[in-house]
Amino acid sequence: MKSIPVITLDGPSGSGKGTLSRLLAKTLQWHFLDSGLIYRGFAYKVAAAHIDVENIDKLIMLAKQCNFSFGQEQIGEMPELNINGETIPATLLATEHYGEIASRVGAIVKVRQALVEVQRQFKQAPGLIADGRDMGTQIFTEADLKLYVTASAVERAKRRYQQLKQNAINVSLEQVQNEIKMRDERDAKRAYAPMVPAKDAVLIDTTGKTIAAAKALIMSHLQAKGLIS
Ligand code: DC
Repeated sequence: MKSIPVITLDGPSGSGKGTLSRLLAKTLQWHFLDSGLIYRGFAYKVAAAHIDVENIDKLIMLAKQCNFSFGQEQIGEMPELNINGETIPATLLATEHYGEIASRVGAIVKVRQALVEVQRQFKQAPGLIADGRDMGTQIFTEADLKLYVTASAVERAKRRYQQLKQNAINVSLEQVQNEIKMRDERDAKRAYAPMVPAKDAVLIDTTGKTIAAAKALIMSHLQAKGLIS
């Protein structure tokens, strides 16, 4: 039986991996997993239940109680996220507030383990584009192409700042710079499933590149791997 192809895009915030993943999923008409949204959705539940991010036992219990489901999928788009029947708007989850909680709770091994299956279920024909921090190193180690997308710290902060502005979220560039620096450091340094390039990952540096140029570069890697003709 022909296996279902998976392409993983891991890397820090503001690297362009989210935009590129979405574009690739649309171009190829494949499924799209934004794993950060799942961590952010869990963070939302943590905040709603007033659980302290230091209270590991309660976090693990909550993770086991969360039943994730998804709305109707438009191919190439991450479907709407529901947890225990509650629809959680993606625009609400875009704030750094939930990014920060997601990064903290994402450092707990048993929380990560409770979220494995919900992520793996996105692997469906005709193929999957998976965006995150550990897609190529933990969740889809069998991926056909693993990309590690990055950019200079200054450029990443500027991009993230623009994204937040577009979502009408009021922050200063300096605040964004500090917040993503701390979050990326925590994500990269955690003991379990840290944000690091997979051994077999191709490095894509998007500094000074347009999205179109970065996409073209990735498409050339897909072609080289025989994933597209
Ligand atoms: O990609 P994002 O900014 O939406 O992710 C928010 C946080 O969620 C990120 O800082 C760490 C956590 N996360 C993770 O630990 N593993 C993933 N695969 C995706 C996100």
